[in-house]
Amino acid sequence: MVRSSSILTKFASILILGSMILSLDVRVSAQLKVQLSVDTSKPGPKIDRNIFGQFAEHLGYGVYEGIWVGPDSKIPNTRGIRNDVVTALKTLKVPNVRWPGGCFADEYHWRKGIGTRTVTLNPNWGGVIEANTFGTHEFMDFVDQIGSQVYLSINVGSGTPQEAAEWLEYLTTAQPTTLAKERAANGHPVPYKIPMVGIGNESWDCGGNMTPEYYLRQLTIYSRFVRNFNPAQQGNDQMQKIAVGPGGGEARWTEWTDTIMKAWEKRQWSWDMQGLSLHNYTVINWANKFASVGFGEKEYAQILRETLKMEDLITTHSAIMDKYDPQKKIALVVDEWGSWYAPSPGSNPGFLVQQNSIRDAVLAALNLNIFARHADRVRGANIAQLINVLQAMIMTDKEKMVLTPTYHVFKMYVPFQDATFIPVTFNAGTYTNSGITLPRVDAIAAKDITGKLWLELTNVDPNEFVEIEVNIPGLNANTGSGETLTAPTVDSVNTFDAPNTVTPKPITAKIQNGKLIVKLDPKSVTVVSLGNAK
Ligand code: AHR
Repeated sequence: MVRSSSILTKFASILILGSMILSLDVRVSAQLKVQLSVDTSKPGPKIDRNIFGQFAEHLGYGVYEGIWVGPDSKIPNTRGIRNDVVTALKTLKVPNVRWPGGCFADEYHWRKGIGTRTVTLNPNWGGVIEANTFGTHEFMDFVDQIGSQVYLSINVGSGTPQEAAEWLEYLTTAQPTTLAKERAANGHPVPYKIPMVGIGNESWDCGGNMTPEYYLRQLTIYSRFVRNFNPAQQGNDQMQKIAVGPGGGEARWTEWTDTIMKAWEKRQWSWDMQGLSLHNYTVINWANKFASVGFGEKEYAQILRETLKMEDLITTHSAIMDKYDPQKKIALVVDEWGSWYAPSPGSNPGFLVQQNSIRDAVLAALNLNIFARHADRVRGANIAQLINVLQAMIMTDKEKMVLTPTYHVFKMYVPFQDATFIPVTFNAGTYTNSGITLPRVDAIAAKDITGKLWLELTNVDPNEFVEIEVNIPGLNANTGSGETLTAPTVDSVNTFDAPNTVTPKPITAKIQNGKLIVKLDPKSVTVVSLGNAK
């Protein structure tokens, strides 16, 4: 067995993921079998379903065409919202949808999207016309149709506290105010539920280029005046206010987190927040982004190495938060994450259209597992973005729709929503390409509310099968079953013409000598649960 302390040092931060026990054993044959122990005696925190949140910005074809086709469209729709998309999203049990941005949110004026619409522009994303036909009521209808919840982004950059406060009054009051009557006249007499609001977006950049101190002033003002009046949300179900948080791990960002958290600890009674956001995209070179298709194993390894930096980022900011909030009252909400590649050839570069491959599926699983391992602090996350933009779940082209590999990962992870984290220990082994060494295997376990045990097992290695032997003390199941997602090549994608290239297949795992044996395909994401077959 060869162990290298220098390699260990270099990769320690990304390899020591949660409770994994690692040894960098280079004997390849020994690594192809992985022993994994599940410790059901030490259940961890709840994996908040909100870490499976989505993000729908007015950007490219994300909202218009992706969600909204209008009631007169030939594409089957309900009140203008496409039925195929709604059906697909219901299956994902989307816990919340963040809207209307993104950078767009800090230029959004809600009144332009109710009643008679005002046609304006979308300067952030291609400078195109913003017809505002999809506004507040259409968004609420969409969220309702897919069975999800609202995460509203408030305009701090170019709006006012009054505008934001009035939006919330319009949405939530049950009393017969002028705004409530206007809401009723627009078709919704009953107040809406607004579980989450974001106070600004990237206020350090597209949201207004603010310093941490300047943003803090805005936060305290908006937090005071943006009130939720819905009588159903005055008890345990209060609206969560999410402050703008960091966008990286460097000094600029640690200072940002420190400023906000220090002020929160010393806050007056008159303001509060329940979450701090974190944005982190997987990008290697902003000036020359990687392609989303037509890449090889080197780019596969490079992107996965980059995405594992999420672990360090969360650890860094959680540590700062712990200083001021040891009880972890404030959630870290990773409300923008995912891969960001070069625009697909022929697309409008402002529309952020990219393909979605098995690499993105593995990337999604690795990030979701990081969030789950930090479930005590990370209680929300929103992948960017829902449809036709960045690492999307769904792509559409007029009447056509295709589900991406990332969609399938989110579907496979549904059992982990609100499940209890169960610690696992395993020797991840390593996979190396082009001088890049990554943990070969990743895994999490959780018990759902019925007590059923679920395992997620990722094989990062695109070439080798891995056999996982799962040791579960007190195992009383005689079979394991679930789904596995893999693909022919590292850049395999689903297209409108070939929509099932990357699609989950059923998998059964046998129990042998009291252990569950699961064989993982190369570059695969697998979810299995334990049961008793007759
Ligand atoms: O998701 C695309 C953009 O990325 C968002 O609008 C912005 O918040 C971030 O920079």
